[in-house]
Amino acid sequence: MTTTFNLEHQPLLQSGTFHLAVWGCQMNVYDGERICDLLSACGLQQLSSPDGADVIVLVTCAVRAKAEDKVFNQILSWQHQGIITEKTVLALGGCVGAELAEKIIALCPQVNIVFGPRTAHRLPELIATYQTSGQAQIAVEAEALEKFDSLPAPGRRGVSAFVTIMEGCSNKCSYCIVPYTRGEEESRPLEAILNEIRLEVENGVREIHLLGQNVNSYRGSDSAGRLVHFSTLLYAVAALPGVERIRFTTSNPMEFSDDIIEAIAEIPLIADSVHIPVQSGSDRILKLMRRHYSADDYRTLISKLRAARPQIHVSSDFIVGFPGETEADFNETMRLVDDISFDQSFSFIYSKRPGTPAALMDDPVELAVKKERLYALQEKLERSAASYSQALLGTEQEVLVEGLSRKSSAELKARASCNRIVVIDGPQNLIGRMVRVKIKQVMAHTLKGELIDA
Ligand code: SAH
Ligand code: SF4
Ligand code: F3S
Repeated sequence: MTTTFNLEHQPLLQSGTFHLAVWGCQMNVYDGERICDLLSACGLQQLSSPDGADVIVLVTCAVRAKAEDKVFNQILSWQHQGIITEKTVLALGGCVGAELAEKIIALCPQVNIVFGPRTAHRLPELIATYQTSGQAQIAVEAEALEKFDSLPAPGRRGVSAFVTIMEGCSNKCSYCIVPYTRGEEESRPLEAILNEIRLEVENGVREIHLLGQNVNSYRGSDSAGRLVHFSTLLYAVAALPGVERIRFTTSNPMEFSDDIIEAIAEIPLIADSVHIPVQSGSDRILKLMRRHYSADDYRTLISKLRAARPQIHVSSDFIVGFPGETEADFNETMRLVDDISFDQSFSFIYSKRPGTPAALMDDPVELAVKKERLYALQEKLERSAASYSQALLGTEQEVLVEGLSRKSSAELKARASCNRIVVIDGPQNLIGRMVRVKIKQVMAHTLKGELIDA
């Protein structure tokens, strides 16, 4: 089998150690895993703690101001603790790297290397150049797909693997910084994705989690150069021997076309869970957000999905307190939440991101009011998620056993198709297997299950 991975141009680093810290979305988790594979292939050994590491790599998130602040607070705290010394090579990557690049080097002397989501593969070369020249290195620009062709085969990690299918985002929602940090959207070729999945299956992976900011706008090409849509990719992944479950994140309501809904109806390997962020239930706000769908479009989409797969769990992200959001707008969001019944969802107070169109909009609503709205929404979402948990009590579920439970090595941690964590008692040789369990107990965020047929 041929792979697209090519390490020829990577330098061999002096032996040493590195520590990696990752913030942000699953695409950063994927990039972080690939950076580990790459630095290990180049001769560095990974440490789980930053203490004593020769190289510290930060893969950062810029989506909200708080996420960005965390990175700089972490650097200061490590510096005060003596973890970052003059000898440490500190490489800041991810979305904050792409967003602030030169500013970081100018204002944060502890940072020696800045890279971005598109240049993760250049890290060994940047480290080597910094070590020989002593000059700070900045590299954030690259072709969208260059990274994927310059990485080693994925290492062995677990039974579920993230596979990024596209880089960047061209939607330019008015509040969002991602298009400016990850650049214009571009899809990986079908074969490159399938090859990576085959390697993951050889590693023992059973569940594939396809990633993109907008997976349903995937537009790749096959080996004959023909255009491939997301639904075709789903059928191709499902046909690969060894793949037992498929997830995908994130879907945009705007391009969730009927062929994708049909694929969900026809491919039983697709999990009973979809994350389709609606952001707001007010059409006025959705327009200001430049989301290109209405709340009713969203209602229609979810009813079509439920007709195709009645047991599917739908989750969402919400932004509360978007510039100019009125009480009436917010009530529309609450009404939508009542109508849809979401499972475990995320909600955030709007955060002004420099350079985005929304940053220039009038934002007269006080933070205290926004917080009140956020808590009210979160309470409603919690109640909705709790009723999903209750409904699972007594049901039989097929779960993929992922590993030992965090609390006790006598228990196993598994994941149901609907994305809920199920803790079970059972032997360790079940890890990596799909087993049937009966849900016996419902706890705040997990379920307790009993094996039926192992
Ligand atoms: N591509 C995905 C979202 C990626 S960002 C989509 O379009 O659905 C993840 C979430 O962060 C978004 O869904 C949104 O809810 C939130 N987010 C993005 N920008 C934000 C901002 N400026 N303030 C607050 N939340 C934001
Ligand atoms: Fe941001 Fe919108 Fe792209 Fe999602 S679709 S990453 S919210 S610009
Ligand atoms: Fe954050 Fe970048 Fe992901 S801004 S949410 S890490 S794409």
